[in-house]
Amino acid sequence: MLYRIFPIFVGMSEYKERMSKSNITDLKTVRLSEDADSVVLLDQTQLPEKEVYLSLSNAEDIWDAIYKLKVRGAPAIGVAAAYGIYVCSKQIGAAGFDDFYQEFKRIKDYLASSRPTAVNLVAALNRMEKVVLDNRQEDIPALVRLLHDESVAIREEDAAACRRIGENCLALLKPGMGLLTHCNAGHLAVSEYGTALAPVYLGQERGYNFRVFADETRPLLQGARLTAYELQRSGVDVTLICDNMASSVMQKGWVQAVIVGCDRVAMNGDVANKIGTSGVAILARHYGIPFYVLGPTSTIDKQCPDGKSIVIEERAPEEVSEMWYAHRMAPRDVKIFNPAFDVTPHELITAIITEKGVAYPPFTDSLSD
Ligand code: MRU
Repeated sequence: MLYRIFPIFVGMSEYKERMSKSNITDLKTVRLSEDADSVVLLDQTQLPEKEVYLSLSNAEDIWDAIYKLKVRGAPAIGVAAAYGIYVCSKQIGAAGFDDFYQEFKRIKDYLASSRPTAVNLVAALNRMEKVVLDNRQEDIPALVRLLHDESVAIREEDAAACRRIGENCLALLKPGMGLLTHCNAGHLAVSEYGTALAPVYLGQERGYNFRVFADETRPLLQGARLTAYELQRSGVDVTLICDNMASSVMQKGWVQAVIVGCDRVAMNGDVANKIGTSGVAILARHYGIPFYVLGPTSTIDKQCPDGKSIVIEERAPEEVSEMWYAHRMAPRDVKIFNPAFDVTPHELITAIITEKGVAYPPFTDSLSD
């Protein structure tokens, strides 16, 4: 085992005690270790049963943690990659700038290959590379210090953006509303209060008494394992539903707004997010429910004109046929298609809410401001 694991055995009483804590930010999704020699991640594949932190200090383990969704959610992946390349840069034994940069670039391209759809991963790594290239006159220890500062800045900016996104969305919501969300765009996916769940947490602090419906989000169950977990842990009224129940709860009049996160926003307002999001948007349009996409401006890809240009990650068939089941639930050798994301066309989106404000259609105008 290349990384150190700190397992926490969780018995029922400890689990209940943990779930009665109200402050979700007690959980540190991704951070640097005290000595800044490793990236410490809350292993999200072990939630909700176990809170296990991994301490990773080489590029292979960081790549693996991102690929296997031990850390996931677009902004959290960006922060993990930024911390990761800083930690790896400390270990580069280069004599001069050219040798340092050659190795830095190799690690950067490697980490960038772990997941293709979320723009935040490449955007964070590009920021880190810019620091190196803009400071080539510095010696290696100074460069490493600057990389540390940049990785911390990426995390801090993310945390600050979340709160503003929450405030901007909360202004559109009313106390007592039923909200439906898909996948997990909360604290576990980002820093602090998350993106799509930020208005829920702020509303909770201010007595809004929202009722949240969390889609379970097949096949990796981020809604069941993570969204239901973090909202319940924070005392929010959350009801878990299977993905195919969204229409039913909307038809009953229980949902007044849909709030989702995003992995890449194209300049025309098309949005890539967790597979199934576009279906929820179609349902919301049918039932006349506003469909809000929440994310930091770092998720808007200025190089991406529309959803057709977004690369959609395809993942292993076993995630559909057997993962999470006690035994296999599909015939051997059946063909399986497992796209991790889909694109919601801009026509179905009521507004895209960032830390800067609320962008309404036409998005080609509002997103370029
Ligand atoms: O595959 P995941 O779990 O990384 O997908 C996450 C999502 O689709 C989130 O909605 C998105 O990254 C926004 S997180 C603030």
